[in-house]
Amino acid sequence: MHIVYMNSEFNKSFHITTFGCQMNEHDSETIAGMLTEIGFKESPERKDAGVVIINTCSVRDNADKRFFGTLGQLKRRKENGENFVMCVCGCMMQQQHVIDTIKQKYPWVDIIFGTHNIHQFPELLQKVISEKQKLIEVWEDGGEIVEGLPAKRLFKHKGFVNIMFGCNNFCTYCIVPYTRGRERSRRPEEILKEVQELVADGVKEITLLGQNVNSYCGQGNTGKTDFPDLIYMLNEVEGLERIRFMTSHPKDLSDKLIEAYEKCDKLCRSIHLPVQSGSTEILRKMNRKYTKEDYLILVEKIRKAVPDISISTDIIVGFPGETEEDFEETLDLCRKVRFDSAFTFLYSIRKGTPAEKYEDQIPEDVKHQRFNRLVDTVNDISAEKNAEYVGRCETILVDGKSKRTKGDGLEETPAGMVTLSGRTSSFKLVNFFGKEDMIGTSVCVDITSSNTFSLVGKMKE
Ligand code: 5AD
Ligand code: SF4
Repeated sequence: MHIVYMNSEFNKSFHITTFGCQMNEHDSETIAGMLTEIGFKESPERKDAGVVIINTCSVRDNADKRFFGTLGQLKRRKENGENFVMCVCGCMMQQQHVIDTIKQKYPWVDIIFGTHNIHQFPELLQKVISEKQKLIEVWEDGGEIVEGLPAKRLFKHKGFVNIMFGCNNFCTYCIVPYTRGRERSRRPEEILKEVQELVADGVKEITLLGQNVNSYCGQGNTGKTDFPDLIYMLNEVEGLERIRFMTSHPKDLSDKLIEAYEKCDKLCRSIHLPVQSGSTEILRKMNRKYTKEDYLILVEKIRKAVPDISISTDIIVGFPGETEEDFEETLDLCRKVRFDSAFTFLYSIRKGTPAEKYEDQIPEDVKHQRFNRLVDTVNDISAEKNAEYVGRCETILVDGKSKRTKGDGLEETPAGMVTLSGRTSSFKLVNFFGKEDMIGTSVCVDITSSNTFSLVGKMKE
């Protein structure tokens, strides 16, 4: 992928707007890495960039509206004759109806590519710049996994590593199996090599990414490697401090993985375990393949083995057919599990999924009313869970300057200090005063107070 650009006049800078999940963030890091490798510079402002990229999402609520809104804003610049290459990619492009809309309403878009052919982007871009043509290249499904793509990391000390692509679960509300294709696992040796390279480049924490990491099954040189095997392998990497992963499907979480928490000192004390609903009947309609009781038993097992683990989840409110009783089962489950945090979603139809056709869709006002009740319940519990940290001493990997807002328990920053933020092993966000050169290092802080979504700490004297 070493392309020499013929058009030397071209403004070789790029700007990426990313919608959606961690997977998309990491795809954007890869796009930035590939462009940097061929001599492009990242532009902090979209208006100054020669290549404007929007990486779209079709899972998160409203991400599609925000995408078309952003495209609308860019229209005027194209109409004014500004010379920039407009590229759109990501999950939404894997849906034919989206491509049709773009062709019809936004014909000035220069490049459309999908989730399976990100590696082709530099090549497509070269063609567009030198031959002034428009290109649509979207693959229906992933072929061979392309290894060795560079990534321009958002953080020097944190790296994201795809271990698998796609999903085979077909939850009835979800578009991912259609936009990201079938499950494909990377070879363990490739993952190990990437992690070793990241560590050599200053990375202390890695997050392993996959739609359902628990069904990872990599073909290694000496046979098959499952997800816990992979964790054991990476736990041995010298210089690496922390291992995280997301996302886990409850139906595939094995005892072997729970045991890995006990044995692997680098595996962080947190797990994201989407439950989606507390009603066994709704879970059946969602095709989740576990019951409310199965989930509660699983949580008990995890907590017994790893008492200090934090558990977060995803919950969908207002799935078709959800009765008041079903919803109360969800509230009941939240009170029983006591999640450290929960991402709550209003059910919304994704075109092409089975649940689109379900007749008993829930009225918007009922959905919103349940959503608010759920958010109140989960937030109260989050605040109580966070309060348990006050008085503890925690090791924080410092991410950077804090984005805190006023009134979260920190007074004026003392002279010579900055407000920093970082995460505990259990993924709690901690704000505290420190020195700028602490960014990217691990420090010990005493937790002095707590909020619903964050903690306040004080450096050890
Ligand atoms: N409506 C609402 N939420 C959804 N999610 C996925 N699809 C939908 C949908 N159609 C949520 C699930 C998933 C998270 C990433 O997004 O909770 O775990
Ligand atoms: Fe979507 Fe279900 Fe696969 Fe998660 S496990 S990506 S919710 S189909």
